[in-house]
Amino acid sequence: MSKYYVTTPIYYVNADPGLGQVYTSIAADVLARFHRLDGHEVFFLTGTDEHGQKVQKSAQNKGIHPQTYVDEMAQRFVQLNTVFNISNDAFIRTTDERHKQAAQHLWKKLLANDQVYISTYSGWYATRDEAFYDETEIIAGKAPTGAPVEWVEEECYFFRLSQWQDKLLDFYEQNPHFIAPQAKRNEVLGFVKRGLNDICVSRTTFDWGVQVPDAPAHIMYVWIDALTNYITALGYPDVNTDIFAFWNASLHIVGKDILRFHAVYWPAFLMAADLLPPSRLFVHGWWTRDKQKMSKSLGNTLNPFAVAHAYGVDQTRYFLMREMPFGNDGDFSEESLRARITTELSNDLGNLAQRVLSFVHKHVHARIPHPKEIHAVDSALLSCARQALPDMREEMKNQQIHTMIQRIWLIIANANRYVDSQKPWDLRKTDTDRLDTVLYVLLETLRMVGIYLQPLMPDTADKLLTMLGISGNNRTFLAIESAHVSTGETLSADLMQLFPRHEERGNVLG
Ligand code: MSP
Repeated sequence: MSKYYVTTPIYYVNADPGLGQVYTSIAADVLARFHRLDGHEVFFLTGTDEHGQKVQKSAQNKGIHPQTYVDEMAQRFVQLNTVFNISNDAFIRTTDERHKQAAQHLWKKLLANDQVYISTYSGWYATRDEAFYDETEIIAGKAPTGAPVEWVEEECYFFRLSQWQDKLLDFYEQNPHFIAPQAKRNEVLGFVKRGLNDICVSRTTFDWGVQVPDAPAHIMYVWIDALTNYITALGYPDVNTDIFAFWNASLHIVGKDILRFHAVYWPAFLMAADLLPPSRLFVHGWWTRDKQKMSKSLGNTLNPFAVAHAYGVDQTRYFLMREMPFGNDGDFSEESLRARITTELSNDLGNLAQRVLSFVHKHVHARIPHPKEIHAVDSALLSCARQALPDMREEMKNQQIHTMIQRIWLIIANANRYVDSQKPWDLRKTDTDRLDTVLYVLLETLRMVGIYLQPLMPDTADKLLTMLGISGNNRTFLAIESAHVSTGETLSADLMQLFPRHEERGNVLG
């Protein structure tokens, strides 16, 4: 079975989870679920980034010990995963003992390979970004991200990033698909070509972090600690294991704000420690509100729990994945969330299922009919549904989640047109043989739609497949070809509505 390893960034626990963060998790979840259904052995990792100055400051503001603080905050992210149906296989916390040991092991390896040395750093630091900035990057006294900066002068260990420029450029060249979308790859190439400076990888002015081995005054810079999570979860430093083999099939999903850390620093750290870089990075854009990035520090976030509560989990998952092409930015609007729920979910999908299933219940004793003669219009719809799979695979290989969704909705649109053109309500009186075929084709199409919807809307898909009487072992992508609706059998007795109608109302989110 081929392996598939997908990760989200680990989330800072300095504030409650925001919609932007659950967005990354949902995207990774869609990819993980898709590949499981397609027969891959999947390992899906997410977790929390619990060290560093930002987290320490938040704990201080609350007057509690950082450990007490992060223990409580991490639970909110765990709960977020439960609410949004995120199917992660592991949840890593950087305060886990095992993770600390792995990070220290990586450090010792870097030291042994002469990749770190001690010196003094003087320059700018933005706690909000947990990033060091060069004098040349400061614009009107702020970081290029707009974050406030402070001047730091402290003894620290440096990583010899400057030595990795050519090796990184070679690596990008040999692996043209390492960074997607292409524009982000070009951005990284441009940055690395301009030359790299050694970077500071330890701190001495506060202590909330992983201890640098044999240097009691130093803790690791939060990013070197954080990035290591991706291999800690696979059992690093044990690399000759079955679980570590996932590393050769790794995909990191990251937002564009953390591109440089993942595309430049991380491969360099890994190569410097005699490990392979990750296989691929997919860089997504930002949700904005009034064109400003939604972020905790700007105070314009949306509470994902509130969104799910007001509009439903699957509806929110659908909207976030469908509205903004994966890789682009987009402005969040509650009006457009409601419009998509009404048009695409309730009308297109909900009505199709409702029309077909209630007709079968009412007029053919809820029995799945045997098809009779298959016409061109019938095979056209069936093959549109069946042949979507190879295209969807290709799209998911490139993380084009929104295109995959459009493809499913094309099947749904065709099925609605088919109902309108075949008029089962007339056939009932004029041609019951033809009616059998038409209903069979529609139920079979709904079965495939239900199977395809599972990665995106797991609960809705489950409802649909349950109503169609499709058992758990007939729900993988293998079953698209190898199975069909059970003709002659009776549909499940319960007719459920896929999406409750939202009463007409205005905006409810703050
Ligand atoms: N802790 C680091 C990641 C370390 S990974 C080794 C971090 N955490 S974060 O909580 O600030 O952000 C995590 C992810 O959420 C990032 O990919 C970021 O892009 C994403 N988002 C946070 N706000 C976002 C939006 N408004 N829109 C889309 N994604 C955004 O960075």
